[in-house]
Amino acid sequence: RVTARRHQSLSSFRLSRDQLRSVKARMRAGLEAGLKSNSHSPVKMLPSYVFRTPDGTECGKYLALDLGGTNFRVLLVKIRSGLRRSVRLYNKLYPIPLEIMQGTGEELFDHIVHCISDFLDYVGMKKARLPLGFTFSFPCLWKMFLKKRFSWTKGFKATDCEGNDVVDMLREAIKRRNEFDVDIVAIVNDTVGTMMSCAYEDPQCEIGLIAGTGSNVCYMEELRNIEKNGLGEMQRMCINTEWGGLGEDGCLDDIITEYDNAVDRESINHGRQRFEKLTSGLYLGEVVRQVLLDLTRRGLLFKGRVTEALKTPGIFETKYLSQIESDRLALLQVRSILQHLGLDSTCDDSIIVKEVCGAVSRRAAQLCGAGMAAVVDKIRENRGLDQLNITVGVDGTLYKLHPHFSTVLQETVVALAPQCYVTYLLSEEGSGRGAALITAVARRDQVEM
Ligand code: BG6
Ligand code: GLC
Repeated sequence: RVTARRHQSLSSFRLSRDQLRSVKARMRAGLEAGLKSNSHSPVKMLPSYVFRTPDGTECGKYLALDLGGTNFRVLLVKIRSGLRRSVRLYNKLYPIPLEIMQGTGEELFDHIVHCISDFLDYVGMKKARLPLGFTFSFPCLWKMFLKKRFSWTKGFKATDCEGNDVVDMLREAIKRRNEFDVDIVAIVNDTVGTMMSCAYEDPQCEIGLIAGTGSNVCYMEELRNIEKNGLGEMQRMCINTEWGGLGEDGCLDDIITEYDNAVDRESINHGRQRFEKLTSGLYLGEVVRQVLLDLTRRGLLFKGRVTEALKTPGIFETKYLSQIESDRLALLQVRSILQHLGLDSTCDDSIIVKEVCGAVSRRAAQLCGAGMAAVVDKIRENRGLDQLNITVGVDGTLYKLHPHFSTVLQETVVALAPQCYVTYLLSEEGSGRGAALITAVARRDQVEM
């Protein structure tokens, strides 16, 4: 009976093939709605003004920033074109303390500028006014090339920022410090940076996927389908879908569980990013914790004792989920991870925890797969093809570290988009290299961004 009650809790995470097909259709509808001008679709479909992938003619020396994933990075990127085409990177990671992520905008941008200053000292280039590409992994709306108004997602909530221009905020912070200068050329979403970085290796790469702290996709869309812009001659433009917003209008309510609702209620952006909260690293551990809390309260786990550790938000980081679900790990090791997190477990408890992690991460991977199936089928139909061969550039700790996430995602795409042959290419050096490539193209094309 105990097992049956446990299975009942986990069954709400199981999605049938038909349910996944329906999620694919809802994502497709979200993508289409977001492309309409003046749309208020929860899937924002933001234009990136990136019109093509790299062709090997890019060159120069660039500074790149990478903000919004697990780490903040500052990079120096040297790109060579022609026969000796290559990209060389020097980078340094800087932690962003939670109090700065959620402090004031001025503090956050001062901290970023402090890190750039340290980095320029490190590479000995404080005097050079380098062109800068900024991977800024948040929804950022461009008013043509002028304003880049943004909103926060994931764990960021610095005040006095939302609705402002990110370039202005960075410029003002650089002025306040008054130690160096840069030429801010491009603001790039991490999906777009990842796509560009991978496309440098594989020209078939026309999609970027991030499955990490957050969840998002970009892809090359036909300009004729984009009502929101007035650019005539170009053929395609990369669109940052911001697919994490799907469900903000309630369209996913039938698959959302009571545990997801608890995670949403306790988050700093209640009601927002509902698809992201089902699929990304920042939230999966929290969903697991909510299930464990429920099972414990019902006396089915941890001898019915709700400890302080179990009540602590954020204890199950992606890396722990990934370790717990590893097939190579003996149950004794699962118990020692739980011990490390302050959770005393029996052998049975560790089996249950592993089952819960499996149910939550499998659903996440299937949902991402359903979303990806919608994107690849849309591209295939855009191009009037019976069969599409395409590469997806991928980054993110969930995709890279989790033992099953990538396989389940890929299997779901095969099942739901059988006319598409999709190759997945891991981005090895982060999206800063892509940001530098975009900066190179923008400078050469002399587009003032
Ligand atoms: C990094 C990219 O490798 O992956 C970032 O450089 C991106 O731009 C990040 O945001 C996403 O993964 P995570 O797991 O760190 O959120
Ligand atoms: C969030 C952000 C999005 C970003 C994604 C992955 O969904 O809104 O811009 O691409 O996280 O980092």
